[in-house]
Amino acid sequence: MNKQVRKTVIAGNWKMNKTPSEATALINEMKPLVKDADCDVVLCVPFVDIAAAIEATKGSNIKIGAENVHFKASGAYTGEISADMLKECGVEYVVIGHSERRQYFGETDQTVNLRTLAALNGGLKAIVCVGETLEQRELGYTETLLKYQTKMALTNVTADQLKNVIIAYEPVWAIGTGVTATADQADEGNGFVRAAIAEAYGKDVAETVTVQYGGSMNAKNADELLSKYNVDGGLIGGASLKAEDFSIIVKAASK
Ligand code: 13P
Repeated sequence: MNKQVRKTVIAGNWKMNKTPSEATALINEMKPLVKDADCDVVLCVPFVDIAAAIEATKGSNIKIGAENVHFKASGAYTGEISADMLKECGVEYVVIGHSERRQYFGETDQTVNLRTLAALNGGLKAIVCVGETLEQRELGYTETLLKYQTKMALTNVTADQLKNVIIAYEPVWAIGTGVTATADQADEGNGFVRAAIAEAYGKDVAETVTVQYGGSMNAKNADELLSKYNVDGGLIGGASLKAEDFSIIVKAASK
């Protein structure tokens, strides 16, 4: 099988960083640096930055994503944002089930699944995050856990809807720590995710799904990580807040 059948996607996840004016400034700095990308370039930004980000990226190759979406279409859910709201603002992607949301905001495999379905039914592309903690890795549960999280997230997602799903393998121990998984660990983790998709949808379908790696990916290690067969892009935290570093990762993915 040829890795080229899959779309390579480099997505920034800004987390809780940047005000709208700062978002505009950073995007204006990034645009010329990533304009020749031979991969998809996405910036997932805080809700309040979306309007400024959409405006700043007009006419460019940068797509905008959100960092979460609620699983109901509308109703009495104070403080939440629906897929329709995001779609109407011009958002194309949404991050779902990030480990920070699982850790700090009570996200479960079930709510990750419901949000994924809501995003897909609302016409958004879902970037679904899975990943093991250090303790789970040391206990030898990595494969079991990644497969379980992947299958749970994709419950009731049709093969046709799967075309709009990206899975991001983000080992929790590698997020924001400066400790990156080795290229082989990233390839192995992404491979477990792909194997779970194969078990649920068949091998041919699994070969077409973009599986990103995330966790301290940076301008220095991106080349090696992205060269691996199962690594089809990256979900980038810290390095997506620096135009130059992010553009180096985009260039590494464009080779
Ligand atoms: P860092 O790149 O800062 O480790 O964050 C990764 C991440 O959580 C992206 O979603």
